[in-house]
Amino acid sequence: MSMTIRTINEIFGAEISGLDLTQPVGESTRTELNTLFSKHAVLVFRDQPLTPPQFMQAAEIFGTLMDQQIKKFVLPDYPLVGCNSTKDLPRKNGKLQVRGENYHTDHSNDIAPPKATSLLAVEIPSYGGDTQFVDVRRAYDDLPEAQKIALKQLRSKHVHESSRSPRSFAKLSPEDMAKIPHTAQPLVIKHPVSGRPALYLNTGRMEGIEGMAADEGFALIDELYQHATQSKYEYRHPWRVGDMVIWDNRSVMHQANADYDPEEYRYLYRVMLQGDKLQPYA
Ligand code: SIN
Repeated sequence: MSMTIRTINEIFGAEISGLDLTQPVGESTRTELNTLFSKHAVLVFRDQPLTPPQFMQAAEIFGTLMDQQIKKFVLPDYPLVGCNSTKDLPRKNGKLQVRGENYHTDHSNDIAPPKATSLLAVEIPSYGGDTQFVDVRRAYDDLPEAQKIALKQLRSKHVHESSRSPRSFAKLSPEDMAKIPHTAQPLVIKHPVSGRPALYLNTGRMEGIEGMAADEGFALIDELYQHATQSKYEYRHPWRVGDMVIWDNRSVMHQANADYDPEEYRYLYRVMLQGDKLQPYA
């Protein structure tokens, strides 16, 4: 089989076909896929009905698997594989409280946040439940030059749950909470492979901007978030069973949607890959 690549839009995203990810890939394919990953930031592989070990093997093309933070959502036999399941979700006024329902980048309060997250669709509702992505590299590129220079100097403290978070996070045990880091992250990061700058935002976890009064800092975060989440920066992925999607947490934000029938079943495997400490774009 030969690999074919279709770019998803003119900014980011690529759909890869002609690969069978149930099998290990060769070294040249691995190198090519990693180059595509750094460039396109979201890679979509259709028709890959993988078992958990095959999914782990496929994700490892791009790096080293890391622990899932919420242990109650891992597969008992494969603890590096988590699951996003509607059966685990609470409801409020009849609506499912899905995890990840505003644009974010995963575990941004980690000292070295995951470089990538990948989902594999096992069961999908008959409508809704898409995952959305926005390209925070292009969002940065489009800012006025003077603002880019000012933002490059700034850092934000990222915590488990911001005091102004638009969503609630999973409640952790006091022992797990004690292990959660609080980390100052650059507002503009440099991609370790491509060298491209990107906004680094997560309204659920950012606790203002260092050196700014709280209201001023949160107002700047909101302004940048509104800018970066415009539909012109978006790719919306409509899931099919057997889709494997992997995204670069240093280049895109993502969000889940609860717009499906809560009685229907949505179930995806989830893995994350270890990342490095974020570098500021100087
Ligand atoms: C997430 O990882 O934020 C959830 C994405 C999804 O379930 O669509």
